[in-house]
Amino acid sequence: MFLTDLIPLRTLGDDRGGLTVLEGGNDLPFEIKRVYYLTRTKPKVSRGFHAHIALRQMAVCISGECEMVMDDGYLRETVLMNSSERGILIEPMVWHEMHNFSEDCVLLVLASDIYDEADYIRIYDDFLEIVRAKS
Ligand code: TYD
Repeated sequence: MFLTDLIPLRTLGDDRGGLTVLEGGNDLPFEIKRVYYLTRTKPKVSRGFHAHIALRQMAVCISGECEMVMDDGYLRETVLMNSSERGILIEPMVWHEMHNFSEDCVLLVLASDIYDEADYIRIYDDFLEIVRAKS
C-alpha cells in the first residue's frame, strides 16, 4: 500500500455520460462535514504544504490534472491525478502538496470536519519532529 494509492470510486456512468458517487461513511471511511474545491489555480502555483493533526480528507480531480505529493515523514511519493473516477485519501499526519495544476483543473476535497486552523501543521520541520517523536 502506498500513500498515493488512487482509490476507484463508485462510478455508475452509462451511455448518457459519467456519474460518480461519494457517500460519507460508505464510499468514504468518514462522514463528510465540509466540501471545498480548488479552481483556476494559476500557472506555477503550488498549494497545500501542510499536514493535519486529525482531519481526514479525500481529494478527487474532477477536471484537468494536477500532481499530489504525499509525505509521511519517511516516504515521499508523487501521483498524477487526472481522473474523476479515482480519489486519494489524505489521512492525518501526511504532509501534502499539490503542483502543476492544469488550467482546467478542479480539485474537489471532501473533509471529515469543518475548517480549523488549529488542526494544521504548516511548518515541515515541525511536522517531521512530531512524526518522528511518535515512532
Ligand atoms: P489553505 O488551507 O492555506 O489552502 P492551501 O493549503 O490549499 O494552499 O487555505 C487558504 C485560505 O483559505 C486560508 O486563509 C484558510 C482558508 N480556508 C477556509 O477558511 N476554509 C477552508 O475550508 C479552507 C480549505 C481554507
